[in-house]
Amino acid sequence: MFATKLGNNIMEAQHFLDAGETVGIPTETVYGLAANAFNTDAVLKIFQIKQRPTFNPLIVHTYSIAAINNFVTEINDTAMQLMQAFMPGPISFLLPRNTTIIPDIVCSGLSQVAVRIPNNKLTLNLLQQLQYPLCAPSANKFGYVSPTTAKHVLQGLQGEIPFILDDGPCSVGIESTIVECTSTHIIMHRQGGITEQQIAAISSLPIIKPIKGKLPATSGQLKSHYATNTPLYLDNIASNLLKFADKNVAVISLQKIYNNNTYPLSTTGNLLEAAKNLFAILRALDGVYDIIIAEKMPNTGLGIAINDRLFRAQQNMK
Ligand code: TXA
Ligand code: MG
Repeated sequence: MFATKLGNNIMEAQHFLDAGETVGIPTETVYGLAANAFNTDAVLKIFQIKQRPTFNPLIVHTYSIAAINNFVTEINDTAMQLMQAFMPGPISFLLPRNTTIIPDIVCSGLSQVAVRIPNNKLTLNLLQQLQYPLCAPSANKFGYVSPTTAKHVLQGLQGEIPFILDDGPCSVGIESTIVECTSTHIIMHRQGGITEQQIAAISSLPIIKPIKGKLPATSGQLKSHYATNTPLYLDNIASNLLKFADKNVAVISLQKIYNNNTYPLSTTGNLLEAAKNLFAILRALDGVYDIIIAEKMPNTGLGIAINDRLFRAQQNMK
């Protein structure tokens, strides 16, 4: 047990990471639960604390494309083009793993490693100080809503980690997009902070969904994930409001007001703002209402990633 401390001193974070402990770190997407990616025992702690199955690989975080070069055996032209366009930023790349550098436990023994350069100044400074990269999943218990503030991390992991580097609320609020690049196409493994349109503006290659069964499903792609304890229903607002008329119901909308307990994600209908608010609102309503009904976002831009999270937040997907 730890007396979990919050603070903004990267030296303090480094102290615990160097000692092989896990630390909550801010990124622009969600808070991560970080450990020294070269230290197998430290990485194992992440799985134990999160109660996450070890067949579920972790993203390796670092501060530069040059550093990424050490962890992989090749960066093809397509990947390099997108990396230069979007790093640092809310995107992760699946690249051929340098198995002598990145331990099996980080990647569940897979031949690819997911790498990312987070766009958060404090964490970038920390990564530059360290002698190793950090692997970090979202800093929540496996299957629950991701954390977008240090307080969210504390709510889920208090006593289990020594330190949370606090940099206020995350600016993007939804996890990184995960892509795999070949010379002929771009595979989108997870919808996230960088949209398909943004990728299409940089590369003219076709963007495709992963072929089922060919590659391991990313956990963000498991059917039930980001799930609230309060049952959540997506879409069909009018009929769901009727169905649950005798219950204490909250509605999450983009901007429309449906009842007295409607929580718009963005009063101006801005999808960037909606993504930023999504997880905090889900957490705030969880356990407070009997039922949450969520409106489907427009299926464009960040709306696609938000709909994906809401779809899998449904209890009945379990
Ligand atoms: O925005 C983010 O990506 C956040 C912040 C903390 O960086 N991290 C995050 O990590 O969302 P996590 O562990 O919650 O989700 C990472 C996803 C998982 O679905 C995992 O299966 C997939 O990435 N993944 C990681 N390494 C992989 C690999 N080598 N091959 C296939 N999928 C991989
Ligand atoms: Mg996660």
